[in-house]
Amino acid sequence: MDQREKKLAAASAAIELIELEGFIGVGTGSTANCFIDLLAQFKHQFDGAVASSEASAERLKANGIAVLDLNGVGDLAVYVDGADEATRHRHLIKGGGGALTREKIVAQASKLFICIVDDSKIVGHLGDFPLPIEVIPMARSFVAREMVKLGGRPELRHGFTTDNGNQIIDVFGLEIREPVQLEETINQIPGVVTNGLFARRSADIIVVSGDSGVERLE
Ligand code: 5RP
Repeated sequence: MDQREKKLAAASAAIELIELEGFIGVGTGSTANCFIDLLAQFKHQFDGAVASSEASAERLKANGIAVLDLNGVGDLAVYVDGADEATRHRHLIKGGGGALTREKIVAQASKLFICIVDDSKIVGHLGDFPLPIEVIPMARSFVAREMVKLGGRPELRHGFTTDNGNQIIDVFGLEIREPVQLEETINQIPGVVTNGLFARRSADIIVVSGDSGVERLE
């Protein structure tokens, strides 16, 4: 199986897992796009979706799925999204697509967070993938200096603005042994909007697709 087939298989397994009713939280990225395209076949069974990015909202709408603001829907039963790295403890790095803030909000507002990945995303320890941090633009140099103190090599994601009008710093070289603690430490730096560690609110289920089939980590 190639990577796209694995992403499709993980997305398809997630469709099997969820109740197709009410409003469904939908993530961002190529794996989430597979999920959106499959979900479209069942659009008459549920009311609509809450999207974690403008890009996903557009794709949902193009598939004929109603998209509502989280404020109008309240808490969600389920959120389905991909990840850039995932451990068997279900801790994640997300934000490769820059949608981490809305992703974290929707994940936190959902009872069940199902993460869908191909097996290349499963790691022993997080940190080979550079950790994205969304920052208020005037704080980007300050936050970068604070990340150097924490042992990282920050790089501004040039030419990129988030859906919230902010910037992203990608932090290379972090050895993340205590993801919950590091997530909290980075959150305390003034100017940080969100960091891409999803450890305090980890995934409830990771659906991993590989050559030998689909595995569930829970
Ligand atoms: C976007 C994300 C994505 O979930 C993550 O980048 C994975 O993307 P893909 O499914 O394309 O590998 O966090 O902000």
